[in-house]
Amino acid sequence: MRTLQVDLGERSYPIYIGGGLLAETGEYFERHNLAKKSPLLIVTDEHVGPLYLSKLETSLQNSGYRTISKVVKAGEKSKSLEVFEEIMTTAIEGGLDRHSVVIALGGGVVGDLAGFVAASYMRGVKFVQIPTTILAHDSSVGGKVAVNHRLAKNMIGAFHQPEMVLYDVDTLQTLPERDVRSGLSEMIKHGLIWDKSFTDWCRDQSDKLLDLDPESLVYGLTLGCSIKAQVVSTDEREHGLRAILNLGHTLGHALEATGGYGQFLHGEAISIGMVAAAKIAVNRGRDQSIYLVTKDLFERFGLPTTIPSQMNEDDIIAAMMHDKKFKENQIIYVLPISIGEVEIVNDVTADDVRHVIQELKEEGQHV
Ligand SMILES: NC(=O)c1ccc[n+]([C@@H]2O[C@H](COP(=O)([O-])OP(=O)(O)OC[C@H]3O[C@@H](n4cnc5c(N)ncnc54)[C@H](O)[C@@H]3O)[C@@H](O)[C@H]2O)c1
Ligand SMILES: [Zn+2]
Repeated sequence: MRTLQVDLGERSYPIYIGGGLLAETGEYFERHNLAKKSPLLIVTDEHVGPLYLSKLETSLQNSGYRTISKVVKAGEKSKSLEVFEEIMTTAIEGGLDRHSVVIALGGGVVGDLAGFVAASYMRGVKFVQIPTTILAHDSSVGGKVAVNHRLAKNMIGAFHQPEMVLYDVDTLQTLPERDVRSGLSEMIKHGLIWDKSFTDWCRDQSDKLLDLDPESLVYGLTLGCSIKAQVVSTDEREHGLRAILNLGHTLGHALEATGGYGQFLHGEAISIGMVAAAKIAVNRGRDQSIYLVTKDLFERFGLPTTIPSQMNEDDIIAAMMHDKKFKENQIIYVLPISIGEVEIVNDVTADDVRHVIQELKEEGQHV
């Protein structure tokens, strides 16, 4: 078992990563002095619930906790105000009080949704993340919680740090293959923004990672979480450095919205977004190898690197304009300088992005 610390003053918290943690949740809750008198609310989804909910409930109940649970539909569409309200109803009917803890058992969707419930219920209650996807090594750390608006992703949300992150890597063995690939996309991102040697390691270990080799997974997830933790500790509320975590996300979020939050998984959309960012950087004069290495990396993981020809540029650009990263008519864009190093710029124009969308659509027709 490995423990990392996210240093945020009085909001600091540990990330525990290892096998078998789910069955020990009750003990971790006791160790963190989480109240036993108030009911706990576990939020999970229809795929994760049948696999892991009873194990979690049993562990908590064995330690003397009372639990209620809410199972939502799987998928990005559950990150909505409607589902948020349903969970609020469960919380109120279940008698949650100020000392209750909301637990997210699932991937990034459940984490973002349950986290926003925790941030809002009675103006904020405690929150624990129990991630069950690879992608959630990113989403469960850093305190960004949100639901989507029909027009734009993550538009309604808060910063709400968890008490702890309990990452039982055994749960990853049941992940569908497409979600394995999608999650590895954020792991690769952590290398691309921060650490070339981690990017090289991901490339060398691609087969093992895709096969869910436990040792490679624990190493990769620990490094990914630690990069995220370092960035977040430096800039919790994204006044500067934290924006580098958005590599690939400006276009990625727009692709997700344009695809109706169903066509692309998050990791797939940002994979295209990262390749596009590399292409924009090259179009602005950076070395061509940045694009080639980035594209090769994502292809090795079976992730998409081109844009489907039937997608409309205007729709994608319109979705991008609604994004939070679009300020006073300027897009805040993260671009690679080299592999493992990025810069934040504000002079990428909508036309630059439109041009790259066209290039990536053409690229897709040649494969
Ligand atoms: N808050 C943040 O900082 C942050 C960062 C990155 C991504 N995100 C968000 O995370 C979301 C994507 O997260 P995700 O990819 O984990 O998606 P997800 O939560 O939808 O999970 C993916 C799929 O896998 C299933 N699943 C989850 N765990 C499983 C398991 N152990 N076994 C079998 N099936 C399992 C889920 O039911 C779902 O169908 C997006 O909404 C994205 O915006 C947030
Ligand atoms: Zn992301």
